[in-house]
Amino acid sequence: MTREFNNINHVNGELKLPGDKSISHRAVMFSSLAAGKSVIQNLSEGEDVLSTQKCFRQMGIEIEKKSDCVEIEGKGFKGLERPSGPLDAGNSGTTTRLISGILAAQDFESEIIGDESLSIRPMKRIISPLTLMGAKIEGTEKFTLPLKIFPAKKLKAINYELPIASAQIKSAVLLAGLHSDEITTVIENIPSRNHTEKMLNLKHELKDSKNVIYVSRKNYPCPREYFVPGDISTASFFIVLALLTKNSFLKIKDVTLNETRSGILKVLMEMGANIKIENQKENSGELYGDIIIRGSSLHNVEIQKEIIPNIIDEIPILSVAGIFAEGDFKIHNASELRGKETDRIKAVCYNLRLLGIRAEEYDDGFFISGKAGKDKVTFESFGDHRIAMAFSILSLLLKQGGTVNNFRCVNISNPQFLNQLKQITD
Ligand code: S3P
Repeated sequence: MTREFNNINHVNGELKLPGDKSISHRAVMFSSLAAGKSVIQNLSEGEDVLSTQKCFRQMGIEIEKKSDCVEIEGKGFKGLERPSGPLDAGNSGTTTRLISGILAAQDFESEIIGDESLSIRPMKRIISPLTLMGAKIEGTEKFTLPLKIFPAKKLKAINYELPIASAQIKSAVLLAGLHSDEITTVIENIPSRNHTEKMLNLKHELKDSKNVIYVSRKNYPCPREYFVPGDISTASFFIVLALLTKNSFLKIKDVTLNETRSGILKVLMEMGANIKIENQKENSGELYGDIIIRGSSLHNVEIQKEIIPNIIDEIPILSVAGIFAEGDFKIHNASELRGKETDRIKAVCYNLRLLGIRAEEYDDGFFISGKAGKDKVTFESFGDHRIAMAFSILSLLLKQGGTVNNFRCVNISNPQFLNQLKQITD
């Protein structure tokens, strides 16, 4: 599906977004593991979270969508059933990597498959630590999907220092660690998103300026009610659109403000963005609140290494803001972008060059300089939802508009994207 976007010059209105994708995956997983009924409000409706639900349904978990919530009847410790066929994680790296930690501890054999994009994403990063714990996992020669997970007699606790700042690797180890009576320790040098720790109420401490997290069977989840705050990664597309259109006003209600996710607001504010936070609340350790955005003039700033994991999913849309900001946009320390749904460094640079903008790739980032030309171009989404949304926002900001190829992939995280856009631009 190709989608055309015409220039808009004003944003006005209010949005309330579906639940954060990362928190939603975890809410489904923890509810499925707990013994009894959990209720989830504002669960993400994206295809990725549907993939997670489908995988647990295949393992005997009842998941029922009600008018205002989702109810999950979890089966308790080792209560999952052997799936009759392969578990299809679709496009979702989070489903694959987190569920691997859970499957590694089960008494049955399982297999995880995925779509074309997921099937080339790196899995050695989870196979290695889980194997250290005694898991038996087989991937392809290149350590990619399909993954076959064989029953391990008993998982052992490990002390694991993360080689990459990644919440998915961290969570895979923590979820496997839930199945051992001994304490598993995960050490991170640069903090990544901490929803797993918050939602499981894990103990953690700073030691020699490293974050040390502890988990054991004592932290195994119980049934509960979850409220999933709005997705800040989804919000960031609308935030950048409102910032870059004159006299705009946008309020986005109940968005996650978790300190490991709100780096995008910090960077944009350093760039001169008029962003205010109101009405802050907390639910089970997760901070959320309303974000008020007004049209602003931006300038590019240096992006520090430590904040990269915190903004990793927002870098494509941040680079769109960078084109309209004073000075050149430069980002380093972000080689993880190459292993996302597509190689996002390549994808951003490819699309910007179509506009005549100078875009140079680094191994771990990119450099952008110059203004967009006047020709109307067709951007390539590469089947990546965040690339599709970033370049639809750019199209709306260009006088001549623009077209995005293969736009359907936005459904991965936000099937309501076009409706929400209409709501604030009409
Ligand atoms: C996620 C972690 C991040 C992020 C992904 C969601 C999560 O991946 O890019 O969209 O929910 O844990 P990495 O942990 O691999 O960086």
